Amino acid sequence: MSKLELQQILQTSARQKVLSIEKLTKTFDGKTNAVDGISFDVFEGEIFGFLGPNGAGKSTTINMLTTILRPTSGDATICGYDLIKNQSAVRRSIGVVPQESTADEDLTGVENVMLCADFYGIPRKISKERALELLELVELSKDAKRKVSTYSGGMKRRLELASGLINRPKLLFLDEPTLGLDVQTRAAVWEYIRRLKEEFHMTLFMTTHYLDEADNLCDRIALIDLGKILKVGSPTELKESLGGDIIEVEVQDGSTDLSPVISRIPHVIDVRKIDSDYRIKTEFGEQTAPDVMEALRLAGGKVTRISIAKPSLDQVYLEYTGRSIREEHVDTSTRMPRRGGMFMGRRR
Ligand SMILES: Nc1ncnc2c1ncn2[C@@H]1O[C@H](COP(=O)(O)OP(=O)(O)O)[C@@H](O)[C@H]1O
Ligand SMILES: [Mg+2]
Repeated sequence: MSKLELQQILQTSARQKVLSIEKLTKTFDGKTNAVDGISFDVFEGEIFGFLGPNGAGKSTTINMLTTILRPTSGDATICGYDLIKNQSAVRRSIGVVPQESTADEDLTGVENVMLCADFYGIPRKISKERALELLELVELSKDAKRKVSTYSGGMKRRLELASGLINRPKLLFLDEPTLGLDVQTRAAVWEYIRRLKEEFHMTLFMTTHYLDEADNLCDRIALIDLGKILKVGSPTELKESLGGDIIEVEVQDGSTDLSPVISRIPHVIDVRKIDSDYRIKTEFGEQTAPDVMEALRLAGGKVTRISIAKPSLDQVYLEYTGRSIREEHVDTSTRMPRRGGMFMGRRR
């Protein structure tokens, strides 16, 4: 174990666990596990991202952790309470912003937030004031007395966020908080989430299938696919775990495989030929790139394009799942059409 690894272990063990999950599993049909024995911890004050493609098991996990679904097996401790034995205490300590909107369209914004307060048994005198404060936080003050049926998709998301905060939770669960939102509204939602962490010291557990969202917003990420956790770490740790940079070279005539020539270049870790392109993994991108050009020239290959990329979360995903995530998938959700943002699609 390296000194750095040891330091990281000591640092994380000193931090308070807000959520601790142990082999959590959910089986719907008795055969396949939608969530398959996942274990990890979430620490106080962090934004924890649960990143994976559609159908990975993200919502099922959130539904178990928020007591909506009963786990088939496994344990979890949330804000110090046992998920199975102490459901009501768990519910009081957490807030939830679900994937699908639950707002009553016939009520106004403030009435919706107060309705949530009723579920927690918060007296009306307190809840009215608190609802207005929360609506101010999500910049809905001037729309507070309008019916939700007149709200845009972005406004409804912000309203859901305000409702999820009504019981002043220590831990807030957000299921795909920016799904289907336009670029500006996504940025605004990110900003509210950051404020909750920074000003209110809240811990946030959010699911997403947007790579840029996980990369920009989350302190740590758990990569999930087919119900299993593939990797947990900070965005930087995940990228560094790939160990190096990626050089992509296009050669004019791709008929001869020049991989053996490239593999011999110092610092090169791996070479893959894809048509007339080579995807080269190297310890040091900037040093290796000129050597690649020179080696290919000597071998008679004409380089038509070259690029160096620091590892991105796309590559992390490719590495751990063996699948590309660039392809967009058909969105089967009922929300607004997607605009902008990279998101993860499963190769079909
Ligand atoms: N109520 C249910 N009954 C049967 N299968 C379900 C149910 N809910 C989810 N699933 C299945 O479990 C898997 C994980 O779904 P889900 O947790 O919604 O994924 P995600 O939120 O990551 O898109 C999918 O294969 C989905 O079809
Ligand atoms: Mg989901």
